[in-house]
Amino acid sequence: MRAKSEEVLPAAALASERHTSGIVSMAAPEDAVATVRPKLSLWVENVTVSFDGFKALDDITLEIEKGELRCIIGPNGAGKTTLMDVITGRTRPTSGCVYLESRAHEITALPEWRIAQMGVGRKFQRPTVFQGHTVAENLELALAGNKGVFRTLFRRTRAEDREQIDEALETVGLAEQKGRRAGLLSHGHKQWLEIGMLLVQRPKVLLVDEPVAGMNQQEMEKTAELLRSLAGQRTVIVVEHDMDFIRSIARKVTVLHEGRVLSEGSMDRVQADRQVMEVYLGT
Ligand SMILES: Nc1ncnc2c1ncn2[C@@H]1O[C@H](COP(=O)(O)OP(=O)(O)OP(=O)(O)O)[C@@H](O)[C@H]1O
Ligand SMILES: [Mg+2]
Repeated sequence: MRAKSEEVLPAAALASERHTSGIVSMAAPEDAVATVRPKLSLWVENVTVSFDGFKALDDITLEIEKGELRCIIGPNGAGKTTLMDVITGRTRPTSGCVYLESRAHEITALPEWRIAQMGVGRKFQRPTVFQGHTVAENLELALAGNKGVFRTLFRRTRAEDREQIDEALETVGLAEQKGRRAGLLSHGHKQWLEIGMLLVQRPKVLLVDEPVAGMNQQEMEKTAELLRSLAGQRTVIVVEHDMDFIRSIARKVTVLHEGRVLSEGSMDRVQADRQVMEVYLGT
């Protein structure tokens, strides 16, 4: 069992936990008393979401470290989208808490816009770019949207904005397309543009829902590369059905089933889990 809160645990207990479960990555030295756990970027604690008595999420706890690239998989109806809705403030949990930056902020009572402002960015499955505007303009709009009216009106830091936009263009591989109308981009390029639009807002946590749906093999490979490169500097959480894709990017995977965490660990570990095979991979 894992500790559920920041209790003081003797290092020996942590060490044995580390060795037996193979999935707990405590950074504390073996001989010290570990009072500080690795800095968590996102902490979902005992969250339940009931829709008229039906539990879409059922007492779920997730601990995601800073800079992690976490994949969330699970069969249809497992609760993946509901989980993203809770993290972004779209759905209020019936019970439980969601914290940003260890216990610094409890966000379940906050409105969606405020959570976004605090650095939680979400990419929905369908790209929602401004079709009639160029790639660069889309990024400008995304940046302006984040800065509020004053900054947008007076534009004091144009050079800085430019730099941020150019950096995003480079990161998502659309520098050469920056003058192109977004409506003319391929589906894959639109997805990258939307990721770029999130990046200019400098999110600390990036939630990405089914990023490779409808992409060809080459686009999928580039997307895998992109998401891997985005983790580290920020926390990236990816929900995806495509198992080959998950395997290509996954470091740690959480498998949801019927609103609960069924299994968690490396891809090899969860794929070898009998319960996972039964409910998910076997179907
Ligand atoms: N607003 C709602 N009212 C009632 N039930 C809901 C609501 N939203 C989701 N559900 C139910 O909660 C369960 C979890 O749904 P959710 O959309 O989170 O699953 P998912 O893992 O994202 O599935 P998929 O892989 O199909 O996208 C499903 O049984 C769904 O029908
Ligand atoms: Mg879903």
